Amino acid sequence: MELIQDLTNLRRRVRAWRQAGDQIALVPTMGNLHRGHLRLVQEARAYAQRTVVSIFVNPMQFGPQEDFAAYPRTLAQDRELLETEGTDLLFAPSVTTVYPRPPEEQTRVEVPGLSDILCGARRPGHFVGVATVVCKLFNMVQPDLAVFGEKDFQQLLVIRRMTEDLCLPVGILGVPTVREADGLALSSRNGYLLPEERARAPAVRRALGDAADGLRTGQGLAETEQRAVQELQQAGLRPDYVSVRRAADLSPPEPTDSDLVILAAAWLGKARLIDNLRVSRPT
Ligand code: PAF
Repeated sequence: MELIQDLTNLRRRVRAWRQAGDQIALVPTMGNLHRGHLRLVQEARAYAQRTVVSIFVNPMQFGPQEDFAAYPRTLAQDRELLETEGTDLLFAPSVTTVYPRPPEEQTRVEVPGLSDILCGARRPGHFVGVATVVCKLFNMVQPDLAVFGEKDFQQLLVIRRMTEDLCLPVGILGVPTVREADGLALSSRNGYLLPEERARAPAVRRALGDAADGLRTGQGLAETEQRAVQELQQAGLRPDYVSVRRAADLSPPEPTDSDLVILAAAWLGKARLIDNLRVSRPT
């Protein structure tokens, strides 16, 4: 596996692959890779001849009080994992390669509406940072396909919308969440959990499962959300929100909508855990 950190060498490598007729899949990450990321790489390899993984802890998507400085950076370990997964190229640019201008002069990509609700309402500017960096990575790597985890369901929809609205010639593939045996969704931020918190963390998946059961048996949306919030609180978490939305666009469901998603975010110690569950509701 090749490691490239600058644009000139990246473009040279990508051009050579294109001339050889190879299709390219990109897996954008912030590193500290776990089995969830490796599943994305496996999916990417199934679809394209060449797989690029990017590792870039993107300052633009962190709020001023958030964990940008503390975010785990484990490049040597990540490199070994990617090597064993058969990745062709690891692209690990510096902050100045991605953002040559100061933040206040940086061109931004905004997906209004979708970016302002749920996690976007609690983390102002977060999805502008995500959309901007993903758009830049697409322009740098010029992949045919990009692969993202469904754990970050709102992020996946923001990226799909951005790609469609800007007519970017990149297919977007969402991959189901990878979980620990007790249901906890894999996340780099799970590493922040103390052992006693880790034992309580599966409450998020449990609350989502109970909420899905409630919806399937005709329970109303407000009651479902309220019960899930209480369940999280009883487990010792601090819920940010639990919300039932239309899976297609995260708008509030109409009574005739059956394809729904339940999304939850909750604090446990220093970790903000997010998760979601799709549910088909009888109409
Ligand atoms: O999901 C992530 O790891 C990040 O938000 C992404 C998509 C790599 C953009 O920085």
